[in-house]
Amino acid sequence: MMHLLLPLVPFLGTALCAQPSAPTPIAAPLRELPWAQLNFLHTTDIHGWWGGHLQEPSYSADWGDYISFAKHLHDKADADGSDLLLVDTGDRIEGNAIYDSSKPRGKFTYEIAKEQRIDLICSGNHELYKKTSSDGEFYHTVPDFKGNYIASNLDIYNPKTGKLQPLAPLYKKFTTKNQGIRILAFGFIFDFTMNANNTVIHKVADTMKEDWFQEVLQERDVDLILVFGHVDIRSVEYATIFSTIRGLQPFTPIQFFGGHSHIRDYKRFDSKSVALESGRYMETLGFMSIDGLSSGGTKKQVAVSQTPKLTFSRRYIDNNLFSLHHHSNKDGNSFPTKHGLNVSGQIDEARKSLGLSKRYGCAPHDLWVNRRPYPHKESIFSWLEEQVFPQSVAQSSRIVDGGKAIVITNTGGIRFDIFKGSFTKDTTFLVSPFTSGLRYIKDVPYKAASRVIKLLNNEGPIADMMSEQNAYLQPAEQIAAKYRPQMYSHLGQDSFVHDLHAQSPISAQHDRLFPGYTTRDDAGEDGDDTLHSEIQFYNVPNCIQASVGFDAKKDTPENVDLIYNEFIEKWVILALEYLDEKYGEEDTHAYLDGKSFTDIMTDWVKEHWDFVNAANPHKPTMPPKTISKGRTLQEPSFARTTVQALTSSDNRPIITAIGMFAIGVTFLHSSWAEILLPA
Ligand SMILES: *[C@@H]1O[C@H](CO)[C@@H](O)[C@H](O)[C@H]1NC(C)=O
Ligand SMILES: *[C@@H]1O[C@H](CO)[C@@H](O)[C@H](O)[C@H]1NC(C)=O
Repeated sequence: MMHLLLPLVPFLGTALCAQPSAPTPIAAPLRELPWAQLNFLHTTDIHGWWGGHLQEPSYSADWGDYISFAKHLHDKADADGSDLLLVDTGDRIEGNAIYDSSKPRGKFTYEIAKEQRIDLICSGNHELYKKTSSDGEFYHTVPDFKGNYIASNLDIYNPKTGKLQPLAPLYKKFTTKNQGIRILAFGFIFDFTMNANNTVIHKVADTMKEDWFQEVLQERDVDLILVFGHVDIRSVEYATIFSTIRGLQPFTPIQFFGGHSHIRDYKRFDSKSVALESGRYMETLGFMSIDGLSSGGTKKQVAVSQTPKLTFSRRYIDNNLFSLHHHSNKDGNSFPTKHGLNVSGQIDEARKSLGLSKRYGCAPHDLWVNRRPYPHKESIFSWLEEQVFPQSVAQSSRIVDGGKAIVITNTGGIRFDIFKGSFTKDTTFLVSPFTSGLRYIKDVPYKAASRVIKLLNNEGPIADMMSEQNAYLQPAEQIAAKYRPQMYSHLGQDSFVHDLHAQSPISAQHDRLFPGYTTRDDAGEDGDDTLHSEIQFYNVPNCIQASVGFDAKKDTPENVDLIYNEFIEKWVILALEYLDEKYGEEDTHAYLDGKSFTDIMTDWVKEHWDFVNAANPHKPTMPPKTISKGRTLQEPSFARTTVQALTSSDNRPIITAIGMFAIGVTFLHSSWAEILLPA
């Protein structure tokens, strides 16, 4: 099943369909798509990254490219009589300036999203934090995907009538186009509790007992039950759904698609039931296929019965043109469709109209959310704690007048890494898309204030309450790790040291691979389409804390202002109560007139990292090209990989494959041509 191929990059300089400023993807060995009778493409947790990743070549394709890709795979399905369905499991909004910096928020997102033909779509929790965004689903996404948007456990107060109703149909029964496979589909959200009060989420366990659910599952003319949702595939919620359905339908295959925890994962429930989760931020296009299903047949296709053994296969596609061209068997000229190009154009126009490449400063080095331990000089949280918070808050009048403060924020408010190089308006919203600002309580006894962080971070009554309410304060990837402790790296392993992890069978090239996803799931270690070296992943706490106006190691002030991100207000007040300090919402005040954390960070960057405009005596040199060409690691890495592949005698099949690949003039004109052509 596994074919290795090392195509050269035949579209250097002609990659006109990704965003114009997107970096060129990097050649790497690829695994093929396991195409079958029924195939799926799955996206989840897009969080507004319609434009792809403009600083990371591995994920540089955009929503327009995905539209072209899906068109080619649909053509393939039509040609060979198989079927292809597209699924999206929510959290399409919040996390990228295309959504968060537009006015109104969502102005571009709904228009871009609806261009793709998605067969099954549902809501995530981010669509539900604010009334405006769930109303946005009601007014835009639900009608745009009429009949395909499913809400099995989610109701909304209709903004026109005020009446409570399901956001969308509770389930869907349909038949696939080419095979006539009869599918019964449900769309869920996990037991989320922090939604605005205009929506009502039915707990999954309660939904299992509702009459409609029990009745629908009496249906016998079903070839496949499909459960998709904004739910971690290893969660209690999915375990409950699996056991309930399996109880009522002992022999029917069940395919799950999940999301929310921002990782790639694949779980086997039993021999007829599996689950796929497909990452985050448009980094991954999940591919899933099933062989051996029964079908009711179509005019062209006779009905078949289920085979004794079903075959489920999965592949996680890195979302870049190198992968997409390969899997669709197209090249730079034949890949982009008119429709795809138009959508890429719309995204580009949206980005331009929002001024996203406006530069605020220059990051002197990388700062990571999970790839470094905390504390660490390259941890984004250490940077906030030691620099951004103290230096920003020190300028407030209460500190200038001699006051002291503690600042607490949750790590989940930080969504993405900062790469060395240009820090733009785009970067700001990737790192901190949320509108929440800082609030404070005046003159809290230091004895209590200094203990709040422990209660927010450690096991104990407050932490227990958070987990009961599914209220997580850490980045989603950390929540995933709670179910999957093997995700953590151990201290002492250096990032980008490649010899520790035998990820793939082609160990000869192993230490020449580019860092990226190296997924281990229930089917093994061969899920990723692209072979990568491993990236490190470390634990971070729920919350971090900075001291302002005093040194916490030496001084113990009597009182401090307790400043915190408004998102965690409820928990801060509960923690104080537990420490016998009673405060209510009425005792809290907006810090800096409610200036958002995003703006606080932006102003800090302008003041401290704008080496061009500021008269900074310690001006460091600006790191080389970033945005337009991707990170500087890539070219040498690519060249080394390729040279080694070409010169290794184990790689004869690969070399043959290169010969079959349309290399063309572009390659010969590329600056790497002389390195790559054998002397
Ligand atoms: C939601 O909360 C707002 C403000 O607290 C209140 O005015 C409104 O009536 C509530 N809506 C529902 C449906 O409970
Ligand atoms: C996309 O197509 C629409 C409809 O044909 C057209 O109005 C629009 O200008 C096109 N946009 C771009 C960016 O090509």
